[in-house]
Amino acid sequence: MLPLIASGLFLAAICLLVLGVNLWVLLDHFLKIDVPPSIPQRTRFRILHYAFHLTVTWGNILEKLRICSMPKFFQFLQDAMAIKRNYKVVVTDLYFEEVPVRLFQPKATSSSPRRGIIFLHGGGGMFGSLDSYHTLCCFLARETDSVLLAVGYRKLPEHPHPVGLQDCLCASIHFLKSLKTYGVDPSRVVICGESIGGSAAASILQILLGRLDLPKIRAQVLIYPILQAINFQLPSHLQNQNVPFLTRDLMITCILNYFSIDPSWKDVILTGSYIPQDTWMKYRKWLGSDNIPQRFGNKIQQPEFPGPFNKSAYPELKDFLDIKISPLVADNEVIAQLPEALLVSIHWDVLRDDILLYKKRLEDQGVPVTWYHVEDGFHGCLLLFDKKIFSFPCCWNIINAVVSFTKEI
Ligand SMILES: *[C@@H]1O[C@H](CO)[C@@H](O)[C@H](O)[C@H]1NC(C)=O
Repeated sequence: MLPLIASGLFLAAICLLVLGVNLWVLLDHFLKIDVPPSIPQRTRFRILHYAFHLTVTWGNILEKLRICSMPKFFQFLQDAMAIKRNYKVVVTDLYFEEVPVRLFQPKATSSSPRRGIIFLHGGGGMFGSLDSYHTLCCFLARETDSVLLAVGYRKLPEHPHPVGLQDCLCASIHFLKSLKTYGVDPSRVVICGESIGGSAAASILQILLGRLDLPKIRAQVLIYPILQAINFQLPSHLQNQNVPFLTRDLMITCILNYFSIDPSWKDVILTGSYIPQDTWMKYRKWLGSDNIPQRFGNKIQQPEFPGPFNKSAYPELKDFLDIKISPLVADNEVIAQLPEALLVSIHWDVLRDDILLYKKRLEDQGVPVTWYHVEDGFHGCLLLFDKKIFSFPCCWNIINAVVSFTKEI
């Protein structure tokens, strides 16, 4: 009798916990989250964010219980739900310098070498995988009739910065060296990155400028990337701090984990108090809010930036000021050598202003830029393009913009 009562109590406790967590997530969603006014399907958007928030919360609970890490739990569910479609594309899993990659080659024969695309997926260095981006990569390879290389770079929790970037760099170099093997035209290679993958793409382009032994990458596609970790007080950071799927809280959590930084530095990072005055004087012309066009400026009072200098923070965080982490502050001579770009920005995205600033830098140095600005989108929407009722017009609009730009290369 006693064991029966005990197990009954245990079951009841579990049910209560599940109910409590779900309720808390729902409450948190309604109290904190801003749904962008221009999103047409608001209820679907809310359901989607609720599911996302619930997954992350349960992941965090499992992590606290030492059952499995939050990113692992999230990736597991994300991969389990991925429906892989191959369209008319030959898919091959390979290793390039020990980095897992997936090659997508159109089935139809081609009389001449094809365009090449290096694709670096997003996910904050925590989420995303070759499987979850499989259908998207197939679609891009088929629609643009290109050979597409997707890089399955290593991620958190085991692999903080710079492992992911190095994996992307190694795989890209290996691909550029073996274009002939895969029937790729060396004068038509495009690098395409989404979110943190866009950051990697921007860094790789800058790093490879000195590599005269490799074919020069012909074009870049940056889809809502993060391009600097210096000024987190730009209008977009303040305006969109509670807009899914990258809220300011999630962004700073990703940054702390990705760079293995103690959470106590969070406020110092957000206020920029670790930045010495003379460094800011140098970067201000590129990173100051006054570079953001008037129509994106907001009525929110802009705080003093950077905040009062905190001397002990500088040695801990100074790497953020480096171009390796913030490609947006590369010298003019570097920027001027970068290839033609398609820049995709989303109005309701904390990272929106990164791309507006990069656009200005590229244009000021004479680099041709095609700018695609999405009014009714949200950060991370690209991956939802094939998710049926959870697909939004913005997903297709971005993909179509990427396809038509790529086809011109
Ligand atoms: C610098 O920042 C840390 C972390 O927030 C804080 O503990 C410390 O008191 C700050 N130091 C100064 C001089 O403000």
